[in-house]
Amino acid sequence: MLNLLVTNATLPDGRTGMSIAVEGGRIAEVTQGLVASADETLDAQGLLVAPHFVDPHFHMDATLSYGLPRVNQSGTLLEGIALWGELKPLLTAEALIERALAYCDWAVAKGLLAVRSHVDTSDPSLLAVDALLEVKRQVAPYLNLQLVAFPQDGVLRSPGGVENLKRALDKGVDVVGGIPHFERTMADGAASVKLLMELAAERGKLVDMHCDESDDPLSRHIETLAFEAQRLGMQGRVTGSHCTSMHSMDNYYVSKLLPLIAESGVGVVSNPLINITLQGRHDTYPKRRGMTRVPELMAAGVNVAFGHDCVMDPWYGMGSGDMLEVAHMGLHVAQMTSQAGIRQCFEAVTTNAARVMHLEGYGLEAGCDASFVLLQARDPVEAIRLRATRLKVFRKGRLLAETPAATAALHLPRRAQATSWMIQKP
Ligand code: FE2
Repeated sequence: MLNLLVTNATLPDGRTGMSIAVEGGRIAEVTQGLVASADETLDAQGLLVAPHFVDPHFHMDATLSYGLPRVNQSGTLLEGIALWGELKPLLTAEALIERALAYCDWAVAKGLLAVRSHVDTSDPSLLAVDALLEVKRQVAPYLNLQLVAFPQDGVLRSPGGVENLKRALDKGVDVVGGIPHFERTMADGAASVKLLMELAAERGKLVDMHCDESDDPLSRHIETLAFEAQRLGMQGRVTGSHCTSMHSMDNYYVSKLLPLIAESGVGVVSNPLINITLQGRHDTYPKRRGMTRVPELMAAGVNVAFGHDCVMDPWYGMGSGDMLEVAHMGLHVAQMTSQAGIRQCFEAVTTNAARVMHLEGYGLEAGCDASFVLLQARDPVEAIRLRATRLKVFRKGRLLAETPAATAALHLPRRAQATSWMIQKP
């Protein structure tokens, strides 16, 4: 006997009338028009059922701290980092845990069930590391939280940077991070990449570095990251986050760089909401968009995902844990407005992001975890256009969240009835 049978679902790949049979928390079968008895049956009514959303780049130690101790006046990355430095001595584990748990609630309601969060390891007390390890433990029954040891103040630039990062890994942080563009010199940036990659290789860890988050066309740490991934045989295990300098790089150089990134198996995470907000701040007009070259990277065969990066923190005062909002901004900034481009942006916050995090059991196939979302949309394009309501969110076959369908009652002279934002398919 099945635990759950979802019928009449549309899948992201376009298949319609699909049934998803769930047994023991896993998908037993995905097939058209299955008739079987189950403890519970859900008629999807032709709406989209997608694997849950994945955020491959976030900062949960800073989230929901907007305005503490003050607001970022210039709106720049550097004032954000300075502001975070002012906030750090005021942090308490209790408040940090409370904010992070509140954010995880928001995430679950939006069908976001896996988050890779960087956690600042610069403070020798490792208060944020301990707090987020506790959050990871508490949310484990409903959200997969993966932590990256992130030396916000520079692993070489800050005293004890290397030791603090190693101690964070010893405590159970999953992934090695870095911030080469924030080291004092280009040479130190490259040295930090080499050092951190060797550390990760030695410990068998994945890597995810903030890489070239600037408008400086000569910030080329992604090149070193890709070279080291190849040298150390870490293909498929390394991610460069942001890579915004690539936006401003010389085109000839990029034509040489893209194949190197592809061959090295390095993935790229772009953070559209934050990149469009923080980059180009030193420009007058024209102002650069500052987002990395997403369609070109995808065309070269690089796994590209979109991250949220920030929600209500020293860098960004907006956001709600909605990865469809991230995809929506991504497709605008990257001008990926074709039907195929929009679908790629949906994949950037689902399957591609899951690949970045090395999530096991992800997807809508037999054998995968029954962790999926019923959306108030007919397909991925409509889902992004409407930032569609997550009608139901399931994890391992268990219903975690429900949101009523969005509708509006009209009071017009012509008629008085509810309207739908969905386009009726021919
Ligand atoms: Fe970040």
